[in-house]
Amino acid sequence: MRIILGVGGGIAAYKVASLLRLFTEAGHDVTVIPTEAATRFVGVATWEALSGHPVSNSVFDDVHTVNHVRLGHEADLIVVAPATADLRARAAAGQANDLLTNTLLMAGSCPVLMAPAMHTEMWQHAATQANVETLRSRGVTVLEPASGRLTGSDTGPGRLPDPEAIFAAALALAGAPAAPTTVPQPGTNEEPVAPPSARPLAGLTVTISAGGTREPLDPVRFLGNRSSGKQGVALAAAARDAGARVRLLAAHMDVPPPAGVETTKVETALELRAAALHAAADSDVIIMAAAVADFRPADVAGTKIKKRDDVADPVITLVRNPDILRELVEVRDAASRDQLIVGFAAETGDADGDVLDYAMAKLRRKACDLLVVNHVGQDRVFGEDTNSVVILSRAGSEPQEASGSKSDVAAAVIDRISAELSRVVPPA
Ligand code: CTP
Repeated sequence: MRIILGVGGGIAAYKVASLLRLFTEAGHDVTVIPTEAATRFVGVATWEALSGHPVSNSVFDDVHTVNHVRLGHEADLIVVAPATADLRARAAAGQANDLLTNTLLMAGSCPVLMAPAMHTEMWQHAATQANVETLRSRGVTVLEPASGRLTGSDTGPGRLPDPEAIFAAALALAGAPAAPTTVPQPGTNEEPVAPPSARPLAGLTVTISAGGTREPLDPVRFLGNRSSGKQGVALAAAARDAGARVRLLAAHMDVPPPAGVETTKVETALELRAAALHAAADSDVIIMAAAVADFRPADVAGTKIKKRDDVADPVITLVRNPDILRELVEVRDAASRDQLIVGFAAETGDADGDVLDYAMAKLRRKACDLLVVNHVGQDRVFGEDTNSVVILSRAGSEPQEASGSKSDVAAAVIDRISAELSRVVPPA
């Protein structure tokens, strides 16, 4: 694959040298275009030596090859890392004041992935977020930054995602096959890339919904639920670590999305439905971990509902929301799509049946492939850091139990999904 690696002017540019190695060792032809500022952090000689190609950031070099047009035209994939606030602003505004922004404008139909890095305040600034929205609305994949120690003494969201995560997201975006293993050559200190067995979802796209939907009553009030989004976020991180390209459809969450995934924010069940149906068209796996409101207010007041002494107190009438999971299964079956669909269910037992009876009935009703059942009890409440689940399969295999931290449960669910997929598609 012909890859353009755009490097922005941030300290994280030094980590991009490892990303470049991952691409070249996987056999891709990479041309690096650093911005002027990027070369103050990592010099042109490094990029030339590691890519094996001459490196320029000026539209006035190699004019006879019409470089500013050719590079974008010929690329199969453009990756920008670190995508600094300034670089994203220039790309969003459609500027063409250096070779990299010219190339982005010439990119045509080739996929573009940006991996941001900057200080938390810059990432959260309204101007930056607006630019991210603009780029995403134009089809650019902007990954979430990682959280952690930043260049100064500050910590928070803004770190460049790990080179391995950017690598996996980029290959999956371009529809490239799973990353080949690199075995360290004798006598070298090369870091090996994780073997395929550790990245069983490489090359696959996984869509995960998380958090709780909010159904508006008026401009200031909503009907919501207690979902924290922690389990969905843990699943997104586990799927990412298994090598998948991950799309997170984030309803209201108490925790930030993990680094290296593509996040779409949604508010209501109807918004989640639209995002899920859209994402489903090219997803290999869909995991519905979101707590979707079954009902929404029939009428949403355009202005704040006031209490008044001269009229009766309002009565809220609810209408049913669509069952998104059920619809995803119907659409998949109608299109004969090869897709694994996983539901979640929080259940309690009662005098008429135990948790598994109700869960089996739900699995039949929803017709998804796997149902991850949460036993909701007195001591098990939303927002906890631990979880205990049973994974049921429509194909009828034995229920599988998993418990521990939400990351442990996520890893068990992703392992089970990988096992189900390898049963359908034998590894090459
Ligand atoms: N779900 C959905 N759309 C809805 C409600 C739920 O897609 N309108 C999904 C959830 O994301 C979850 C699964 O369906 O994966 C089960 O959710 P749950 O709330 O347990 O099921 P319900 O169908 O709402 O059944 P119940 O009457 O038990 O609440």
